[in-house]
Amino acid sequence: MKLRVLFATIIAAALGASAHAQTDSDAWPNPEPQKLPAGALKSTVLYGQKLFDETYAVIGPQVADPSMRYSGNNLSCESCHLQNGTQRFAIPMIGVYGLFPQYIARENEVRTLEERIEGCMERSMNGRVIPAGGKEMKALVAYIQFLSTGVPVGKPVQGRGSPNLPLLARAADPAHGAEVYRTNCAACHQADGQGKRNGAPGDTKGYQYPPLWGPDSFNDGAGMHRLITSASFIHANMPFGTHYNAPVLSAEDAWDVAAYINSQPRPHRDHLDQDYPDRARKPVDAPFPPFADNFPLQQHVLGPFRPIIDAQAATH
Ligand code: HEC
Ligand code: HEC
Repeated sequence: MKLRVLFATIIAAALGASAHAQTDSDAWPNPEPQKLPAGALKSTVLYGQKLFDETYAVIGPQVADPSMRYSGNNLSCESCHLQNGTQRFAIPMIGVYGLFPQYIARENEVRTLEERIEGCMERSMNGRVIPAGGKEMKALVAYIQFLSTGVPVGKPVQGRGSPNLPLLARAADPAHGAEVYRTNCAACHQADGQGKRNGAPGDTKGYQYPPLWGPDSFNDGAGMHRLITSASFIHANMPFGTHYNAPVLSAEDAWDVAAYINSQPRPHRDHLDQDYPDRARKPVDAPFPPFADNFPLQQHVLGPFRPIIDAQAATH
């Protein structure tokens, strides 16, 4: 167990989260790259795992070789895709390989797995694209393919993304979210939301607890900046150590704390108005204009979302 995971587990237990996964009715794959036979495939998969787990150390903004600085922040892919992308309902990579190419509304086109990874590079990692066909992209794809071993092509696993969280009938309340944050999150992510580094600023050791906002966080075009995505992830997975079957936060607290986090400053991505060019397919919680409807921007940011969804359904 990595040290940061050990610390997190101790704090999480104090906050009431069970660190031990409960048994699920249907099996969840447990691929182990270490068990691959020695050779080029194994070393490529392991490099992909390292890129995923210690992104900041290989392609982070502070690595020695400037040409390798692809990521704009010191997060790792694992900051959001928990347990190296293997945790059920923590946006896992299990089975994802066989789901691409896939239609993606953000660009309104069919995109490859490589292009989907670039989406997280440019937004979640606030960085730039990794060259297609280069060593790093090959390794990430090989790792995700390995994690998808045995899952039928085209079949989404039960455990993809995060579990659906029932929508609130009211707008989310960032002021109440601030209280939820102080009680349940600040112990790890710190009162100022800037997280806790493994080393000193300027090194390549990443975070014990990642920042949730501020200059070293994901940008405002990232999926985690959408309230439904963020609240669903948080409800199922935070405080760290939470099992999706036994959430620690109430649904209302998860919505409010997500709204609080997403009301804080973070890096800005230009040209967000060009996302979702087919406005009819723009998610109701995309927190930036323009929209096909006349609901106020604030309602797309904080909800309630049901009236928007119902209005959309009525026009189709
Ligand atoms: C700040 C959080 C965050 C970080 C860091 C992050 N991602 Fe993601 N990623 C997301 C979210 C949220 C989604 C799902 C978005 C949605 O709702 O469609 C996602 C989706 C994906 C998907 C598609 C999954 C699916 O089920 O279709 C892939 C592949 C992916 N990310 C790869 C990566 C890689 C590789 C990295 C590191 C280079 C990374 N991500 C870093 C938040 C993050
Ligand atoms: C016990 C420590 C701990 C607590 C408490 C905790 N987290 Fe986390 N959180 C983590 C760790 C560790 C990660 C990154 C996981 C990794 O890198 O393996 C994380 C990742 C995240 C992420 C995705 C990564 C990012 O940088 O945005 C979000 C969002 C998040 N936490 C929100 C919350 C919220 C909201 C709360 C309170 C309800 C909370 N966390 C409580 C330890 C904690």
